[in-house]
Amino acid sequence: MLNEVFGGRLAVIGMGYIGLPTATVLATRGIQVVGVDVNPRIVDAISRGEAPFIEPDLQVAVSGAVAMGRLSMSREMPEADAYIIAVPTPFNPDHTADLSYVQAAAEQVAAKLQPGNIVVLESTSPPGTTEKVSQWIGAVRPDLKMPHVVGSNADIFVAHCPERVLPGRIMIEMITNNRVVGGLTTACAIKAASIYRVFSQGEILLTDAASAEMAKLVENAYRDVNIAFANELSLITESLRLDVWEVIKLANQHPRVNVLSPGPGVGGHCIPVDPWFIVAAAPDLAKLIRTAREVNDHKPHHVAEQVINKARRFRSPAIACLGLTFKANVDDIRESPAVEVVGLIAGALPEVEIMVADPYVPELPKELQSNANLRLVNAGEAVDAADIIVLLVEHDAFKALRHTRHNGKVVYDTRGAWA
Ligand SMILES: NC(=O)c1ccc[n+]([C@@H]2O[C@H](COP(=O)([O-])OP(=O)(O)OC[C@H]3O[C@@H](n4cnc5c(N)ncnc54)[C@H](O)[C@@H]3O)[C@@H](O)[C@H]2O)c1
Repeated sequence: MLNEVFGGRLAVIGMGYIGLPTATVLATRGIQVVGVDVNPRIVDAISRGEAPFIEPDLQVAVSGAVAMGRLSMSREMPEADAYIIAVPTPFNPDHTADLSYVQAAAEQVAAKLQPGNIVVLESTSPPGTTEKVSQWIGAVRPDLKMPHVVGSNADIFVAHCPERVLPGRIMIEMITNNRVVGGLTTACAIKAASIYRVFSQGEILLTDAASAEMAKLVENAYRDVNIAFANELSLITESLRLDVWEVIKLANQHPRVNVLSPGPGVGGHCIPVDPWFIVAAAPDLAKLIRTAREVNDHKPHHVAEQVINKARRFRSPAIACLGLTFKANVDDIRESPAVEVVGLIAGALPEVEIMVADPYVPELPKELQSNANLRLVNAGEAVDAADIIVLLVEHDAFKALRHTRHNGKVVYDTRGAWA
């Protein structure tokens, strides 16, 4: 099957949260995969059969794929029949996409391409990026006919296949989710889809590259706008002295209403980032999407301000902040609003010792290490010693601490876990 389609040698460029599971799943289906990464620590770890981050079922799959000789690692670009690019796409200070990693990867791939090869961009990207990949390759390899110039007569097939897996369920969702594959031409989409047919049990929907790019951004902007609605409600109900959880519970009794849960902000490295790519693409039109981003980005400041005001009512307050990760029961602190809240409180109250607890975070994140008034402790100790308890992440372990140990303390539950 796959071997008949493209010869069966595949390179994955960028072996992080997306690239490594993709490479591993393909390798365990019998494809010969070379993972390419610029980070020697990642190359060495995976070469030893070790997954460099925690994700259920990934470790066993990686060690199996490496032991079978199906997955190997390299810092150099190998020759392959198909290339999947899964490098980071962060944003610049002005919220436009930083495509420098994608460009570097595309140019490195370009040097190795032969007619008939497939290049798939998996990185979340603004509309038009897949076409830029084709242009960047064409600039390095003027000998190749590229699809953005010659359309269906191209030597190289270039497509976008966005990833929508949920951390914590990546190995399941990678196989079961429906996939969108957008080609610069129809032939590009069909060729790229042949890679995903090797392991995907979901539906594979073929489209053009820019629609595929936009669809991925829309998914995360949709989530962001809905969370912003809940977060704005939480500010309004607070000012009206109403319980937001009670109001949302009642509103959700309506058969066609499903208000999401508010929180201390929005974290992870997709939802707070991707909507900005839409704003940058249509700055005059994306008003709601921009406002949603601003509402969600403001929320950690509001939470910190509330805690600081509460603390000023005590002569010598003891504050416990529970949770640092961006969501419950994972160890990922990327773009975590909880980290931002803790930093803001610690910075505003340098004389107050602040206890921080998170069973998934063994040491204070880098951005908090300069705050001498922060102390990482276990949750029970923090709750017992605190005058003010701030729940920032609804880890199961924290839910178990509810009520009994809160008597006489100020409790600020930003997640509704103890509601
Ligand atoms: N993590 C997720 O849950 C998720 C979900 C959907 C989409 N995405 C998107 O997938 C893309 C990758 O995200 P990630 O979370 O896997 O990132 P990551 O930071 O975990 O991994 C990216 C890897 O790429 C490597 N790299 C950078 N430049 C390179 C180059 N030129 N050659 C080889 N390797 C290079 C880095 O060293 C790193 O190991 C991003 O566009 C992201 O938005 C991520």
